[in-house]
Amino acid sequence: MSDELKRGLEGVVVAESGLSHVDGQVGKLVYRGYDIEDLALKAEYEEVLYLLWHGELPTRAELDAFTDELVAEREVDDDLLETVATLAEADERPMAALRTATSMLSAYEPEADADAEDRDAALRKGRRITAKIPTILAAFERARQGEDPVDPDPSLSHAGNFLYMLTGTEPDAVSEETFDMALTIHADHGLNASTFTGMVIGSTMADIYSGVIGGIGALSGPLHGGANQDVMEVLYEIDESEKDPVEWVIDVRESGRRIPGFGHRVYKVKDPRAKLLQAKLRDLSESSGDTKWLDYTTAIEEYLTEEGLVEKGIAPNVDFYSGSVYDHLGIPLDMFTPIFAMSRAGGWIAHVFEYQEDNRLIRPRARYTGATDAEFVPIDER
Ligand code: CMC
Repeated sequence: MSDELKRGLEGVVVAESGLSHVDGQVGKLVYRGYDIEDLALKAEYEEVLYLLWHGELPTRAELDAFTDELVAEREVDDDLLETVATLAEADERPMAALRTATSMLSAYEPEADADAEDRDAALRKGRRITAKIPTILAAFERARQGEDPVDPDPSLSHAGNFLYMLTGTEPDAVSEETFDMALTIHADHGLNASTFTGMVIGSTMADIYSGVIGGIGALSGPLHGGANQDVMEVLYEIDESEKDPVEWVIDVRESGRRIPGFGHRVYKVKDPRAKLLQAKLRDLSESSGDTKWLDYTTAIEEYLTEEGLVEKGIAPNVDFYSGSVYDHLGIPLDMFTPIFAMSRAGGWIAHVFEYQEDNRLIRPRARYTGATDAEFVPIDER
């Protein structure tokens, strides 16, 4: 057994997966072989969920049946909505509120006693969780605004219904389409930290609720899910200071700080998801006539490209453009990471199921650096 230490498991292959692949050298992301660009522009999130969970793109009839099943699971119990309102009143952070509420969801799970090996029951549980997370998040945000929750609308898509429950107004086609695309491109991304967390939990054959809650916990950290919020804060800061965005970048570089939304452990070129979101940001800016965020982000990217940073492999990642897109959709800053979780829950569930098909308990070792042969001294003699 090798004692070679791989800090952060960097480069360690721990599983086989047919779900998604990131080619960081050319900037390509595929879900089950399909290019993210095709899925983002031509498929809806429900179709992508079906693809991840069932292995193939659905036919029209399969998609309709799958969508109906998801729609039927959108409502959450009133007691749970009250808890969500209590969390909002207590000023709980949105990711923590989502973690608590998702945990409480399992109390209302009709198949709670089903064995993790019961694949059909596990899939139904996954469907319930995925369908209900948007309802929880929208209710939480509304409670923070002092508003009652809005019941889900069965005639709307997963993306459209979330925006409707959030604002109380049916979204226009462009907003719905944009948000649907954002859900699709965040749904899966290889063995990132939150997905791996879910897999570790799943490898004990714990139930899928625990896997998703673990994923939410891992995603809540600033090194994983929080960077799009950081980018948006920068854009607000530039706006408030009335600084030129390039001046801001120069100051940040001189102070040795990192530019949020740039760089990636796997991508060494521009993230394909950043390209898709940048195009959406352009559409939204042009249609609204408000090009501020587009102008700032473009100026920053152009400057860093001219400076050679992008050529060095520190290129825009998905978070560089997602914040400004969400801002155009009227989504509050601290809901960006919960929205990431709402989408990525589909990927977590897919990975847990895939891993459990040929399960092996995940149990690595640490290289022990503690004392040996320590002499025990009874407590009263210490
Ligand atoms: N701005 C300036 N310099 C950077 C940046 C940046 N954003 N990112 C990396 N570098 C530099 C870093 O200073 C280091 O330089 P040197 O070798 O001179 O010390 C070099 O690039 C390598 O950095 P690293 O930390 O070893 O690279 P990593 O692969 O571990 O880092 C990262 C990846 C995402 C943690 C990092 O690029 C970063 O902190 N980016 C900003 C935060 C961010 O945007 N995070 C979102 C990631 S994408 C989300 C997702 O896909 O889920």
